[in-house]
Amino acid sequence: MKIAISGKGGVGKTTFAANFAQWLSHKGITVLAVDADPDASLGTVMGIADDVLANLKPIVDMKQLIEERMGGSGTYYPLNPNVDDILDDYCIPLGALRFFRMGNIKGGGTSCYCKENSFLQALVNSLILGEEDTVILDMGAGIEQLTRGTALGVDVLVIVTEPSKVSVQTVKVIQQLALELGIPRTVIVGNKIRNTKDENFLRDHFPTEQFIGMIPYSDELLEMSLNTGNLELPGGSLGVELNNIYQRIVDEGS
Ligand SMILES: Nc1ncnc2c1ncn2[C@@H]1O[C@H](COP(=O)(O)OP(=O)(O)OP(=O)(O)O)[C@@H](O)[C@H]1O
Ligand SMILES: [Mg+2]
Repeated sequence: MKIAISGKGGVGKTTFAANFAQWLSHKGITVLAVDADPDASLGTVMGIADDVLANLKPIVDMKQLIEERMGGSGTYYPLNPNVDDILDDYCIPLGALRFFRMGNIKGGGTSCYCKENSFLQALVNSLILGEEDTVILDMGAGIEQLTRGTALGVDVLVIVTEPSKVSVQTVKVIQQLALELGIPRTVIVGNKIRNTKDENFLRDHFPTEQFIGMIPYSDELLEMSLNTGNLELPGGSLGVELNNIYQRIVDEGS
C-alpha cells in the first residue's frame, strides 16, 4: 500500500510521516519511508545522522544503473532480482524499515525533469514496492508537489492539518487536486491539537468518514525537530492514535 502525506507548510507532515513509518515498522510491517520533499527533512527527523544522510544517493540517480541492467528505457520496471542490490545501495536500513530519498526533482515548470519524474513514478510503483510493503511518501508542502507523476499509484493521500482556517482551506484545495489526479482516497489527520476547541473546529469542517484521527500537540514531537535522534517507538497516547489511524486507513480502504 502506498500512502502519501500532504498538507500545508509546517503542519507536521514530516513529523507524522516519521512517527507513522516507525510505528508501522515496529508492528512488523515492511516499510519504505520515502522523502519526496525536495527540501529533504524526513531522514533528519527520523534521527538519521547528517553524515549518513549526506552519503545517501537519491533514487533519481538510480535511473541509469537500472536501465543499463535491464536494457532499454521502459516506463515500467518490473520487480527484478537483478536490481535488488542496487536498491540496497540507495537506502538506509533502520530495522525493518528502509529509508529512501527521491532527490531533487523540483522542476520549476521546466520540462527537463519530466523524464526523471516518470522514472521515479515507475520506480515507486513497481520496483521498490512488493506486495507486502507499505510505502510512506513524505511530500513537499502544498500542491506543487502533487503532480500526475507523484500521485500515480498512491492508494491513500493523508492530508495533515492544524486546527486553523488557512490549513483547512489548503486541505480543500489538495482534496480537489487529488480528485483531479485520480487518487482513489483522501483522508484527513488533525495535528497539534491542544484542546476540545481545536478538536471541534476540525470536526466541524470535515465529514467523519474523512477525518480519521487527531494527534495532540506535544513537546516530545516538537523536540523531534531539534534533531535529537528519536528512533524510539512512539509510545503512549501517540501509539494509540497512530493505531487508530492505521486501522481506519486499512479497514475503510477495502
Ligand atoms: N503534534 C505536534 N506537537 C508539537 N509540535 C509538532 C507536532 N507536529 C509537528 N510539530 C512541530 O511543528 C514543526 C513543523 O513540523 P514538520 O516539519 O513535521 O512539518 P511539515 O508539514 O513537514 O513542514 P514542511 O512543510 O516544511 O515540510 C516542527 O517543529 C515539529 O516539531
Ligand atoms: Mg516536511
